[in-house]
Amino acid sequence: MDNCKRAMILGTGRAIPEKVLTNADLEKMVDTNDAWIVERSGIRTRHIVEPGTPLSSLAAEAGKKALEDAGLSAKDVDLIILGTVTGDMKFPATACFVQTLIGADNAAAFDLSAACSGFLYGLQLADSLIRTGIHQRILVIGGEILTSMVNWEDRNTCVLFGDGAGAVVLGPTQQDRGILATDIGANGNFSNLLYNPGCGSLNMPTPENARDKLHTLRMEGREVFRHAVVCMSRTMKKSLKASGLATEDLELVISHQANLRIIEALGKRLKLTEKQTYVNVDRYGNTSAASIPIALDEARRDGRVKEGDLVGLVTFGAGFTWGSSIIRL
Ligand code: ACO
Repeated sequence: MDNCKRAMILGTGRAIPEKVLTNADLEKMVDTNDAWIVERSGIRTRHIVEPGTPLSSLAAEAGKKALEDAGLSAKDVDLIILGTVTGDMKFPATACFVQTLIGADNAAAFDLSAACSGFLYGLQLADSLIRTGIHQRILVIGGEILTSMVNWEDRNTCVLFGDGAGAVVLGPTQQDRGILATDIGANGNFSNLLYNPGCGSLNMPTPENARDKLHTLRMEGREVFRHAVVCMSRTMKKSLKASGLATEDLELVISHQANLRIIEALGKRLKLTEKQTYVNVDRYGNTSAASIPIALDEARRDGRVKEGDLVGLVTFGAGFTWGSSIIRL
């Protein structure tokens, strides 16, 4: 498109499974208690799918709602990027199932693997493709069924995660709004602190590996916590600098919803006020790539942010990967 300055958000949507898993439910499954979970993570409930529900159904629901919000037809979409590490199957890409479910016949479609950073990696890529004029209408979805890789016997991890999907539709704009800056990064040296060892070519699906539950996620919680705060604050500062803005200019900062203590520690480093800090981890737990688009959709629909407001998005996940973005809605 001629004179396209950047990409802007045309609509948002989310899909949250109905079933709620409370801390009291988890007390019956592992040696844990509500007080520990709330104090260490801030999580009170998480929404989880009924077994057999594929990610494509949640991702398609979120995508459809984002298109409705934008007043667009699925036929207008020319690319679907789905950030996920819990797709329906190894291949085809779950984005292709989403394409069929929503009827986006004119779209290319692929999945993007960057764990909790999948949505912001996708947002940066989509912004670049729109700026260059290669694509005009891109659906960026972050979605996970993390309960598919949770070890329900491991109290260190099973209390933290939930399922869900969120989506945005992006299109070109000549106005002074939209995605003002983005930053993404990775450091593979820390891949051993948060990973899912099974399901790939490294560890084949043998009976021994199934017995050892290699398909479930592994995490060194304390180390992840430490790196998350440092990396998120660094990437956010980079995006702020690139956009020529300061934290006090931001109406709201939506950081990856992994743990309330991480969100609070990041807020301290960035000197954010409570009003500038979005929290829904208490209700949804950590939904990985879905957490930011779910929160953004909630914040828009609940009137917490409105057109023209400046919003910061920031994330951190396995890899390690991280990313941030400054957007004028
Ligand atoms: N209930 C009760 N006790 C528990 C539980 C539980 N669910 N889980 C662990 N404990 C125990 C441990 O066994 C340990 O006991 P010990 O001292 O007798 O060995 C004790 O509690 C302390 O465990 P720590 O792991 O040191 O507790 P910590 O305060 O670090 O909190 C937590 C753990 C919540 C995982 C924290 O480290 C954290 O949030 N880390 C960030 C990681 C994260 O959020 N990861 C999500 C994915 S990554 C991402 O999305 C960015």
